[in-house]
Amino acid sequence: RPTPVICIDGPTASGKGTIAGLVAERLGFALLDSGALYRITGLAASRAGIALTEDNAPAIADLIRRSHIGFTPDQRVLLDGEDISLAIRTEDASMNASRVAAFPAVREALLQVQRDFRRLPGLVGDGRDMGTVIFPDAPLKVYLTATAECRAERRYKQLISKGLSANMADLLADLQARDARDMNRAAAPLKPAEDALHLDNSEGTIEQAVQQILTWWEQRQ
Ligand code: C5P
Repeated sequence: RPTPVICIDGPTASGKGTIAGLVAERLGFALLDSGALYRITGLAASRAGIALTEDNAPAIADLIRRSHIGFTPDQRVLLDGEDISLAIRTEDASMNASRVAAFPAVREALLQVQRDFRRLPGLVGDGRDMGTVIFPDAPLKVYLTATAECRAERRYKQLISKGLSANMADLLADLQARDARDMNRAAAPLKPAEDALHLDNSEGTIEQAVQQILTWWEQRQ
């Protein structure tokens, strides 16, 4: 039997990260925060002075192939040994991630990196195309959504709790711009896999969403 994978895809700030982390913890599975890889790519390119244009996509893909990306067990993110966990979470970094994520050459460079996270006893993958592109054979695919207002509020609280500044109206606008770009791009657009189960996380608690996913997972055993 292939190594199990649970895919959790959905728009920005739908609670994917937190929920994926908790599901992985409860099951003792590894965790793939695929968005972090695009964030790292955007940051690495900006720092190297490469403009984030389609013309530069091969250079950006090259740069990321040569970089050393690491995740610590407590999910801190390392780029060539430097802890960039905070730097990749700013609104600028979010927008840059979504820009480089639209380039097929970049997605190609990150494809195998992501598949290499798959290991026993299992993996929870959090992103936009886990179920559609990276792990199409995954036995459980969840498409997690929430209203834009709920998501903006969640992002606001996240940023404030990290000591970063935030403005609600700007966040809502950024989030809608990023969703639109993620959904309308040609390469691996954000959309539910045909066999995804939909979960709306606007109303319930994080724990309820986690329990729902664990129940779905048990039903597949
Ligand atoms: O999930 P997160 O907000 O960290 O992702 C940052 C950006 O990376 C997203 O807006 C999206 O453009 C891109 N992304 C993607 N495919 C994934 C995960 C993230 O294109 N699997």
